[in-house]
Amino acid sequence: MTRTVRAAVLERAGEPLRIEELELPEPGPGQVLVRMAASGVCHSDLHQALGDWGETGPVVLGHEGSGVVEALGPGVEGLRPGQLVALNWFVACGACRPCRTGRPWACTETLVLEDRLPDGSRPFRRPDGTEVASQLGLGTFAEAAIVGAGAAVPVPEGTPPEVAALIGCGVTTGAMSVLRAGGVAPGESVVVIGLGGVGLSAVMGAVVAGASPIVGVDLAPAKLERAADFGATAAVFAEGDPVEVNARVREAVGDEPDHVVVAVGDARAVELGIELAGHGGTVLVVGIPPHGQRASFEISQLVDRSARIVGVNYGWSVPEEDFPRLAGLALEGRLPVERLIEERIGLEDVQAALDALREGSGLRRIVVFPDAHPRP
Ligand SMILES: NC(=O)c1ccc[n+]([C@@H]2O[C@H](COP(=O)([O-])OP(=O)(O)OC[C@H]3O[C@@H](n4cnc5c(N)ncnc54)[C@H](O)[C@@H]3O)[C@@H](O)[C@H]2O)c1
Ligand SMILES: [Zn+2]
Ligand SMILES: [Zn+2]
Repeated sequence: MTRTVRAAVLERAGEPLRIEELELPEPGPGQVLVRMAASGVCHSDLHQALGDWGETGPVVLGHEGSGVVEALGPGVEGLRPGQLVALNWFVACGACRPCRTGRPWACTETLVLEDRLPDGSRPFRRPDGTEVASQLGLGTFAEAAIVGAGAAVPVPEGTPPEVAALIGCGVTTGAMSVLRAGGVAPGESVVVIGLGGVGLSAVMGAVVAGASPIVGVDLAPAKLERAADFGATAAVFAEGDPVEVNARVREAVGDEPDHVVVAVGDARAVELGIELAGHGGTVLVVGIPPHGQRASFEISQLVDRSARIVGVNYGWSVPEEDFPRLAGLALEGRLPVERLIEERIGLEDVQAALDALREGSGLRRIVVFPDAHPRP
């Protein structure tokens, strides 16, 4: 049986998304049909829509989602219909060298970066039979999607679907960049450059790690005003001469920072982060600028300080462990994920949400699909 779902499709980079009716077959071996419950709109959707990372489309965008398991393909174990799952957008192959050595975030063989399911397939079809890709093997801007079984990660009972959706990308990326990639210890200082969904999640992760002080840095005064709600102890305006910005941040930290998280896809922000890095400090580069952008830094300074620059894909997370843990922290009130929600919207408002993200206005906008509710 095929089913018809509404989905927001990017035909090619630079064009607005269009709502279309697409068809989905039954889930195949190792696949799961998920009825979408909620999907955040992440800056990575915007990068792809603008063509920052190369040619693309037609593709169902969206990779920060949660949904309810509707049907299991042959051979799928450990999931049951009715369960709420947060969707993992980086299903690792499990067999390459990084995977075998416990670093699935650095998998070299996964096909999801080609906007295919882990098995290489692209289940969405137009009524004329042509294929439409699924962003990162998910395509959460759709009423339902077929995903690899490894992408569907159960979260604890009672997790709100919006929270589960945000854990699917921004929260995990930001919080785990501090908790795993950074290995931040209690009492260490953390500076976060870029206070969007990812950066504020890094701030929340820094609170969980017991970091102090936690300093947020952004170009938008409205973002600086909200940083304290997530646990930042100070907020610094990033506009102006980098030497002065650097001095303001150091003053707010009271010393050299131990860790700097760069949560904006912009070379200037990366350069500021490297400039700020203290002796023995770490720069965690999380934001992904348009392909081809390069940054420069004073090499002798980096060496003198024995500082490290680290690339951080997906917060170096292990989704099957970290999604339930982060959801648990949210349920305990220790990770105020819901404060990231700027507005709940319908699927037809996704393009407006991307436009708002481009203008830097507000935090996460979340598409809510009213038909999907977890069943007990
Ligand atoms: N590494 C990963 O696995 C991963 C995962 C998710 C997102 N990302 C990337 O992280 C970045 C942030 O995503 P987001 O959804 O939080 O974006 P966002 O648009 O919600 O937030 C970006 C923030 O950075 C601020 N900003 C812009 N330029 C700045 C500058 N030069 N200095 C300081 N602040 C600046 C903006 O005002 C905004 O508050 C994007 O590049 C996204 O693609 C990476
Ligand atoms: Zn994302
Ligand atoms: Zn691998």
